[in-house]
Amino acid sequence: MIDYRSDTVTRPTEAMRLRMASAQVGDDVFQDDPSVNAFEAKVAEQAGKAAAMICASGTQSNLCALLAHCGRGEEYLVGQEYHTYRYEAGGAAALGGIVPQTIEMEADGTFSLATMERRIKPDDPHFPVTRLVCLENTHCGKVIPSAWLHEAIKIAREYQLASHLDGARIFNAVVATQKELSELVAPFDSVSICFSKGLGCPIGSVLLGDEDFIRRARRWRKMLGGGMRQAGIVAAAMDYALDHHVERLADDHQRAQRLAQALSALSGLVVEPAVTNMVYIQFADARQAASCADFMAKHNVLIPAQGLRKRLVTHIDITDAGLARTIELFQIWSDTNKSGLSRQNG
Ligand SMILES: Cc1ncc(COP(=O)(O)O)c(C=O)c1O
Repeated sequence: MIDYRSDTVTRPTEAMRLRMASAQVGDDVFQDDPSVNAFEAKVAEQAGKAAAMICASGTQSNLCALLAHCGRGEEYLVGQEYHTYRYEAGGAAALGGIVPQTIEMEADGTFSLATMERRIKPDDPHFPVTRLVCLENTHCGKVIPSAWLHEAIKIAREYQLASHLDGARIFNAVVATQKELSELVAPFDSVSICFSKGLGCPIGSVLLGDEDFIRRARRWRKMLGGGMRQAGIVAAAMDYALDHHVERLADDHQRAQRLAQALSALSGLVVEPAVTNMVYIQFADARQAASCADFMAKHNVLIPAQGLRKRLVTHIDITDAGLARTIELFQIWSDTNKSGLSRQNG
């Protein structure tokens, strides 16, 4: 199978598995797993933050962050399409009594900062207490402009709000912009980074922030059932990915660009330019979208089955040969589709 549904489908390489198998381990809930401790110190240093804590998933890491920043009846400002609001099962509200104040988004992954500022609540007993601004980079494969991020955080600070970055794919932004991780995350009080997406680990995210924040987040992680014991096996994979799978993200970005270019030449598809590892394609109607997904699946290429606008994600398990085969199949589908349409019209 050549699987474009997400970069979460990646499987650990042989070398990563070997590192995991030979990892030294202890009990991480007692904070005496040497592999976890070493990895947390290393990633914290790279990110320019004082402390780090590994989590089972990005959802858990973001949730620990929201719970550590906000109390019950307090709110966070968040883009309407950001993962922390839309795709994390309402965990912050359900488990923390935290109110999301959403903001309508622009196509580039930002939102109006004037709207954000208007939605910060005054000190009035009618309102929830606004505590946090939560942003995302990359969003839908787009690198968020750093000037906008800095301006958003400047406003947050003026109102004494904390800031969290869902940096699930921040290393894609690091590679695309050729900036240091520490530079991209510097404005934020806390950051969550996923290792089980483009970085190819089977599991694992990391939450970063100052010592006091990570101490509070650690308590929440325990309460959420996320205290893992011999987690050095996970940290070993994450450490391996940090050393070996960051620079190679450039290959995923190039393949995404090649895919976008090739598909934009086909009739029946509108293709958005790829910036990092995601290509968005829009079909004219539901029949064509379904016929394309079916045709691809029959030929062992997986793309999302639902929706007129489909996201194709490149990652470590998509090779040049796989990409060439995919482009060839799209071409065949497009030609067949075109002749089917002209027969219908005729
Ligand atoms: C932007 C973003 N943040 C957070 C997550 C959550 O990660 P996980 O699936 O590990 O919970 C995802 C998952 O796809 C994501 O795309």
